[in-house]
Amino acid sequence: MPRDSRKPAPTNKSKTPSARKPSYPKDGGRVFERNVNPKPRKVVPKKPAAAKPGVKPKIPKKAPPEGSERLHVRIAHSGICSRRAAEKYIADGRVEVNGEQVREMGVMVMPDDEIRVDGQKITEAKQYTLLLNKPKGVVTTLSDPQGRATILRYLPEYGVQLKPVGRLDMDTSGLLLVTNDGDLAHRLMHPRFGVEKEYLASVQGIPDEKTLDKLRKGVFIEGGKTLPAKVEMLPTDRARHTRTLKIIIHEGRKRQVRQMCEAIGHPIVSLKRVRFGPFYLKGMKGGECRLLGKAEIEELRKMVGLD
Ligand code: URA
Repeated sequence: MPRDSRKPAPTNKSKTPSARKPSYPKDGGRVFERNVNPKPRKVVPKKPAAAKPGVKPKIPKKAPPEGSERLHVRIAHSGICSRRAAEKYIADGRVEVNGEQVREMGVMVMPDDEIRVDGQKITEAKQYTLLLNKPKGVVTTLSDPQGRATILRYLPEYGVQLKPVGRLDMDTSGLLLVTNDGDLAHRLMHPRFGVEKEYLASVQGIPDEKTLDKLRKGVFIEGGKTLPAKVEMLPTDRARHTRTLKIIIHEGRKRQVRQMCEAIGHPIVSLKRVRFGPFYLKGMKGGECRLLGKAEIEELRKMVGLD
């Protein structure tokens, strides 16, 4: 029988969605059918997990009161020491809060709490971090019982206790960081944070690449093997029979570069630190000091995981 032309031909559209069949293209590729009629899922409230024997249930932490900070952080902010040293002061019973000795860790204090360390009241100090181009012949201390020239003579007077970040030997010149930010100083000196220090070392003799590889791998000096150093050969002074080396390390052991060069049989003739982390010596005269700006300090603090 001829089909009634007025009747619409049966199509997929006329079927209910659930009755629609997935279609497969002729080339055999598969088409995934959309789930057009999903059953609404039953929402079952989650039961709290049954406590396992011997496991303590987690108690949600209370937010500390606004404006409070940890006692050891507050002590470090006074500029007298790092956070780690402050924790030790607390454990040793050297700290009082409002006249009461505190020995436990994690105590929170408010801005108006009175903190004393060894009986001395601490106050929040403004923080200063400076670069100094330490001249040769000056000792990296603030006072010297032998009366030698110290870095103190080059530092501005801010009324805070500035301290050098690590040391440069008396005979080494170059970039030295000085700060009253105890946390920053502690981290900058710690090899874990990998802050690079770059030196120009003029050494006796002409070491070859094979010899310098020893420094790249690590050599034994006082206190153990050094971490791998980056070493680059710079010009040779044939007349004086010396070679200049660029040496980058991220430890800060006593007379480290001198000991490293001695270990490969090429003692140092002169040593200069030309970079500390992101800061270069370039452009600074001997004895010149430069106060770091806010952005520079932020960069430095971020580099060592502070802030
Ligand atoms: N290594 C040294 O041997 N001396 C310094 O002053 C700094 C690094």
